Amino acid sequence: MKQWWKQTTIYQIYPRSYQDSNGDGIGDIKGIISRLDYLKDLGIETIWISPMYVSPQKDFGYDIADYYHMDPIFGTVKEAFALIKAVHNRKMKIVFDMVLNHTSDEHAWFQESRSSTTNPKRDYYIWKKGKNGAPPNNWISMVGKPGWNYDEKTKEYYYSNFLSFQPDLNYRNPKVKEEMFNVMRFWMDKGVDGFRLDIFNSIYKDESFKDNPFSIRYLPTPDNNDEAYFQEKKYTLNLPENFKLAKEVRSLVEKYRHKPFLIGEVSGDDKTLKGFLGEKVDGLNLVFQFELIEFKFRADFFRRILLNNEIEFPAPFLPTYVFGNHDQKRSISKIDGHLEKAKLLAFFQLTARGIPIIYYGEEIGLLEGNISNQEGLDPIARQNRWVPDWLSKFLGIYLNRDNCRTPMSWDDSANNGFTSSKPWLPLSSDTKNRNVEIESKNPSSILNHYKSLLRIRNKERTLREGSIGLIDKWKEEKDLLAYEREWEDSKIQVYLNFGNFPREIYFDEAEYEILYKSYVADTFLLQSYSGMLLKKRKSKKWFSK
Ligand code: NOJ
Repeated sequence: MKQWWKQTTIYQIYPRSYQDSNGDGIGDIKGIISRLDYLKDLGIETIWISPMYVSPQKDFGYDIADYYHMDPIFGTVKEAFALIKAVHNRKMKIVFDMVLNHTSDEHAWFQESRSSTTNPKRDYYIWKKGKNGAPPNNWISMVGKPGWNYDEKTKEYYYSNFLSFQPDLNYRNPKVKEEMFNVMRFWMDKGVDGFRLDIFNSIYKDESFKDNPFSIRYLPTPDNNDEAYFQEKKYTLNLPENFKLAKEVRSLVEKYRHKPFLIGEVSGDDKTLKGFLGEKVDGLNLVFQFELIEFKFRADFFRRILLNNEIEFPAPFLPTYVFGNHDQKRSISKIDGHLEKAKLLAFFQLTARGIPIIYYGEEIGLLEGNISNQEGLDPIARQNRWVPDWLSKFLGIYLNRDNCRTPMSWDDSANNGFTSSKPWLPLSSDTKNRNVEIESKNPSSILNHYKSLLRIRNKERTLREGSIGLIDKWKEEKDLLAYEREWEDSKIQVYLNFGNFPREIYFDEAEYEILYKSYVADTFLLQSYSGMLLKKRKSKKWFSK
């Protein structure tokens, strides 16, 4: 079977916030099923859904207590099977989230594991004795909290690289690996088309348990958490064993005829990312590249991303383009809710060489919520209640992930068509104007812009598979990013105007035709914050010369 994932487009659904079907204020599986036609019509092929398995929901699903069943708030396992089928009936694909690094502390394995030092499941997790009344070493978690958690019952510490209720599994125990591979087999047998692998770079910890070195860096960045909170995560992140595991998981999925794929949540420099992908792209199929999370709305910023990707991740590697997810501030709220600018971001994302990953709501310009750190339900917000909002804003740290998880906005009815009762999180502002229903009727809305671009991308192989290069004539321009995609004898040029002023782009009409303009204007005029796609006319060139 063809490696379909190489040309796909991914759309992330945060299930609690997408569509509620039973009136409890929380999104669910049936709700997602009811919105599949919307996604199909939008032009999406692959949906990735954040975890829906049984969970105490302390980290809203990223703390899993049973990988084989769905949490009742989302529905039943039968409904999950029905969802997989409903997706496939529409010739779409479905990717499940897979948390391999840790379970919930309410998982039966952990309950057994913590019950005594001799329990057969003791070694499923990472347990250590303390040193002179202190934790075994200085390791801190990815969120800057103590990594070791003292357990009164057996008077030892267990390790958690995220939050304390998410104990890390011990992959040095072959049984653990096998158990987790079985979980993946189970879902692939049911037809799941791939996995998004949660904090995959954290899975192995160094066997020597040496102290991590000191670092002068305090604040983490989305694309690099190797050094943060004054610690270099030398022995707790990005260990070579993780690269090896990437290849093992890849061999596991390769056995399936429907060619499921893997996309890893990892972080680090390009060399590290390549470690996960493998020299011959025989590790994870894709990794999230998070540089766009901190984008600058400037042509040269995006030019640098393109150039770097072609140097560091040339074909057969495939770059990924992601502006947001359920952990990061919404991209549109970084550009003051500006819809035209957001359209330009989408233009780039859907026409550059690589895989676009759209976060639900981006297609309608959904804004961040306005929930303070003190009111946040997110466990990260709960742990940082003492930090005033102004301080986290000033430091540029995102402490309340509730704000990027507010309900999807379907129409302008009482709860935006998301639920018939009180939504689990307050709605974002301006949803009277930013909703699917109203935007569907407006030809120049951001929603219709996404639709047009996705339609073109789905039709034009050049955009999905072609090579990419900057257009020489424009490569020094301050406000204009211009690149060309090429596949066999077909060429598509992309012009994006990041500047505050309109400009003229002259081209030979005998040679190129306009395929799409995000702002309709005279032939050669490119409005400020708008883009244009030109397609090379077939063989006409010969006659015109
Ligand atoms: C990364 C996920 O994206 C985040 O939402 C979650 O809290 C942590 N991993 C822990 O699983």
